[in-house]
Amino acid sequence: MRRSDSTRPRPAWSFPEYTPVGVDLGSRAAVAAYDGKQGTDPDADDALLDRLGVTGGSRLVDLACGTGSLVVQAARRRAEAHGVDVSEEMLAFARTRAERAGVAPRWHRAGFLDYAHHGGPADVVTTRSALHQLPDFWKQQALLNAASMLRPGGTFYLWDVIFTFEPAAAETHVQHWIDTAGRAEGEGFTRADFETHIREEFSTHAWIIEGMLERAGLTVVSTSAPTPTHAEFVCLRR
Ligand SMILES: C[S@@+](CC[C@H](N)C(=O)[O-])C[C@H]1O[C@@H](n2cnc3c(N)ncnc32)[C@H](O)[C@@H]1O
Repeated sequence: MRRSDSTRPRPAWSFPEYTPVGVDLGSRAAVAAYDGKQGTDPDADDALLDRLGVTGGSRLVDLACGTGSLVVQAARRRAEAHGVDVSEEMLAFARTRAERAGVAPRWHRAGFLDYAHHGGPADVVTTRSALHQLPDFWKQQALLNAASMLRPGGTFYLWDVIFTFEPAAAETHVQHWIDTAGRAEGEGFTRADFETHIREEFSTHAWIIEGMLERAGLTVVSTSAPTPTHAEFVCLRR
């Protein structure tokens, strides 16, 4: 499958970001199931866009946009909205969502590492529930790429499985997350999904992420961690 024109060549030693890690989302059925499980909520997307100051004429890039709900809501308020994802299946779902909503955001088959943003600098770059797909060395490279798309003073928003617990308490907190968040098959993400996440994906500690954001030229202006396993960071590009 041909990738987006919005990609730049990467060296042979670059992380294979088009090879899925962890929970399998590699089919149309899996993508549709994912959209249901994660509880896509346009009202929550709108609330986030309000918080980030996205209005008509804003330029927003959502990295690893998945099924595209945030991008579609941004386009509905007439922002110039770009959705970027490595998965053709995710982008197909996102395109259909946009068509149904009567909007035409720009979709790019590209990754955190190889997405080359053309056009004017973004006012807002977001990424939700996805940076953990990269090991830490590559997260840093991805954050540098994200920061490079932003205008000075522009906003970077990160939400992910990020650990605010003390490293020595990892087993207790991870087990508690799996025990409380796992649902029965067909009713949402299962224990097995969360176990796979921890075992095969690359979630890391908040203090590591904070250092990476700073080194990417992003100043953290607010953080929130509703649970010991999830956190958001709002940053401004210096
Ligand atoms: C758990 S989903 C989250 C999707 C969406 N952001 C959301 O909040 O629903 C993770 C997404 O990251 C995408 N992805 C994985 N690795 C990526 C990479 N290196 N660059 C861009 N997207 C990536 C996957 O295709 C998938 O759509």
